[in-house]
Amino acid sequence: MTTPPKATGLRAGLATYGDAEFSLFLRRAFIKAMGFTDEALDRPIIGITDTFSDFNPCHGNVPELIEAAKRGVLLAGGMPMKFPTISIAESFSYPTSMFLRNLMALDTEEMIRAQPMDAVLVIGGCDKTLPAQLMGAASANIPTVVLPTGPMLVGHHKGEVLGACTDCRRMWGKFRAGEIDQAEIDVLSGRLAPTKGTCMVMGTASTVACMVEAMGMCLPGAASIPATHADRIRAAEASGAAAVRLAASGRRPSDIMNKAAFRNALTVLQAIGGSTNALIHFTAVAGRLGIKLDMAEFDRLGLEVPVLVDLKPSGDHYMEHFHWAGGMPKLLREIAPHLDTSTLTVNGGTLADLIAGAEDVPGQTVIRTRENPIAIGGGLAVLGGNLAPSGALIKRSAANPALMQHEGRAVVFDGLEDMAARLDSDDLDVTADDVLVLRNAGPKGAPGMPEAGYIPIPRKLARQGVKDMVRISDARMSGTAFGTIVLHIAPESAVGGPLGLVQNGDRIRLDAAARRIDLLVDEAELTARRAAWVPPPAHPGAERGYLRLYLEQVTQADEGCDFGFCVPS
Ligand code: FES
Repeated sequence: MTTPPKATGLRAGLATYGDAEFSLFLRRAFIKAMGFTDEALDRPIIGITDTFSDFNPCHGNVPELIEAAKRGVLLAGGMPMKFPTISIAESFSYPTSMFLRNLMALDTEEMIRAQPMDAVLVIGGCDKTLPAQLMGAASANIPTVVLPTGPMLVGHHKGEVLGACTDCRRMWGKFRAGEIDQAEIDVLSGRLAPTKGTCMVMGTASTVACMVEAMGMCLPGAASIPATHADRIRAAEASGAAAVRLAASGRRPSDIMNKAAFRNALTVLQAIGGSTNALIHFTAVAGRLGIKLDMAEFDRLGLEVPVLVDLKPSGDHYMEHFHWAGGMPKLLREIAPHLDTSTLTVNGGTLADLIAGAEDVPGQTVIRTRENPIAIGGGLAVLGGNLAPSGALIKRSAANPALMQHEGRAVVFDGLEDMAARLDSDDLDVTADDVLVLRNAGPKGAPGMPEAGYIPIPRKLARQGVKDMVRISDARMSGTAFGTIVLHIAPESAVGGPLGLVQNGDRIRLDAAARRIDLLVDEAELTARRAAWVPPPAHPGAERGYLRLYLEQVTQADEGCDFGFCVPS
């Protein structure tokens, strides 16, 4: 697709009838069917994505946000135009939301490009939506403001504060272990996600929103204001107005999301003990702009930048507490020595201006000082080793320190079905010291790299009180999960990665300090296994449609799992 001519307002991106003035006339004539006047249509046009869906409670407040954003656009002299794109909700996406992220990125990019708009306000929140919107906006590269939908409020049960989905997993683990019964788990299903909005722990949605704010792509505070609070509505109005100003300035995503801004975002990822998924997503966004994230530098940042935010799953609190403790401006001020504060923001200033507006909240304990961190050395570590030639990740801040140096016997599951069939069998040969291995769960293998890396503790061990084991896979893990879990092993087993060569009973060594995950099998034996390796059978339906496109184009985890043809060469 060639870049449309640089025109503004209704003249932008005219349909090609071979007569531009006729195209404009026709466009004006048709849009007037909606009751618009020429005066309205001659204003700067601000597109607003509508990602509301009855299937997506994380976006349940989108209609109110759009109304407020429209008000902001009008107050600032622009003309708001809402348009739909795909909406992706984690628990309503078969086979997995990650399978659909790139489809949403394509949809967002092309609808921004196809329709006339001088700036766009993208409203999203559930895990894959903001990454998809950032990828699309980066490629379309017109002035863009991001508005996260915001986190939901906390739930309560028997005097305990609950958060989706860290406590979903914890409570499900208790149910599996027989500690709570069916009646209680039924009650809990109504208490874990008590309002509209995104998961309120430091899961992927919160992590991505915080990184978006650190990159300057949304207004100050927009990452953390609760979804149902009046301030969220006011932030939507302000975001609409900011989009009008941004259109006038011409400041594009490529002006804001530069190399330094991505480094700032990765620094924040370490300081918040954020989701492993964010690394894949921001690798993909950066890739759209021709920027390659430096994994060695990211790992170094992990040694320099302490975890300062006391939120589940690494800590104790929730997003609303983070917000009232000062939110991202306060955190950014605390880690300012690690940041390049000259980066630009959609608000017209720099990150330094955003930090200058940080609020001091006496007595708050959610955003720690660098002298009193949650953990010394950041949240995520990048692993290599003979099992992960192109890399793997471990979330140190959510892992058991006693298992970070561990050698054990491999217990291998050949895929999700195999794991589901055998994991809870009393006949499974497994002990707490073993290493659980899940393969064929990567970008192509599953397909869609599901959040299956949080392999449940086998039922017979869970009943004995085992809470954590070393688990390794080519899958992802929910940002809300915890445990000593090695993820994103690349290349994945389905394309011939060494994970596919592991056999039951092999020894595997995790050495997080040395940044290695190794299969302790000699090279001659590995060579023989490699020669005998056969790829997994083709996925049903892989011969056509989106699945075919996905399987042909999706890249590995270390490349962001984007489609190869979407990355500029
Ligand atoms: Fe949507 Fe967690 S399920 S953010």
